[in-house]
Amino acid sequence: MEYSFTRYLAAKRTVDDRALNDHVWRTLRAALPAGPPDILEVGAGAGAMVERLAERGLLDAGGRYTAIDADPANVEEMARRLPARSLPVALELEAIDLYDFARRERGRRAWDLLVAHAVLDLLDAPRALPALFALLRPGGLFYFSINFDGLTILEPPVDPAFDEQVVALYHQTMDERRVSGRPSGDSRSGRRLLSQLPAAGGTILAAGSSDWVVLPRDGRYPADEAYFLHHLLHFFEHSLTGRPELDAARLAGWLARRHAQVEAAELIFIAHQLDICGRIG
Ligand SMILES: C[S@@+](CC[C@H](N)C(=O)[O-])C[C@H]1O[C@@H](n2cnc3c(N)ncnc32)[C@H](O)[C@@H]1O
Repeated sequence: MEYSFTRYLAAKRTVDDRALNDHVWRTLRAALPAGPPDILEVGAGAGAMVERLAERGLLDAGGRYTAIDADPANVEEMARRLPARSLPVALELEAIDLYDFARRERGRRAWDLLVAHAVLDLLDAPRALPALFALLRPGGLFYFSINFDGLTILEPPVDPAFDEQVVALYHQTMDERRVSGRPSGDSRSGRRLLSQLPAAGGTILAAGSSDWVVLPRDGRYPADEAYFLHHLLHFFEHSLTGRPELDAARLAGWLARRHAQVEAAELIFIAHQLDICGRIG
């Protein structure tokens, strides 16, 4: 199978739409001041969140939307897709690492709302949060959605003891992830943010779970969610291949059986995540 990260991001859209926590969403909406906001999204991928915010009416007042991502291929995809839609905001897209962006913009510009969706669990939050919060206006809001929180469930089991070992080691690879030699990633990001955000000067207004729950209905998965599952298994393969803790042939067999479960519309996948919104100060 050919794997494409942009197809994965597109396939993730319906899974995320179901998962987003409604209480956190409504709290954010109620906290947004009237008038056109300046919104900054970091790790924006191919632009799913700006589309979602527009569809849910959050951008109706106009304003500016700055969307950055470190991966130029994602920003190209965002540039290709988004202008085709008539968004009510002025859009600024840039391929740039968020730390470089924060260093450049600090003291020059400030935003009313900071968005990071399925991103903070890939970062070292105690380093990233102060850099990002420095870009908010006094009293500015943050919306941090889909933060992984330490629980992955694959049902039905194929090899119970090995299933557990694979998932535990997969989580460990998230904690061991390094970018440019620095630690970057946290398999328990959701719960840790609940204390890391106040420590960085944020006041949490609402928090709640936003678990991904993917299951077949009437013998098939909705939208492109079969591909979403295949791609998640590809992440497992990428992270775990070559790990001395796992027997290589047993891992290959495990992956083949899990892909076959997707093909047969039998795999049920759950990942526990948290959404959090709040304001600085
Ligand atoms: C799991 S994807 C989520 C993308 C998008 N928010 C979505 O949900 O469709 C994480 C994104 O964060 C970006 N990213 C990771 N580290 C980054 C960094 N240091 N600076 C900017 N973007 C980053 C990646 O390139 C990737 O597009």
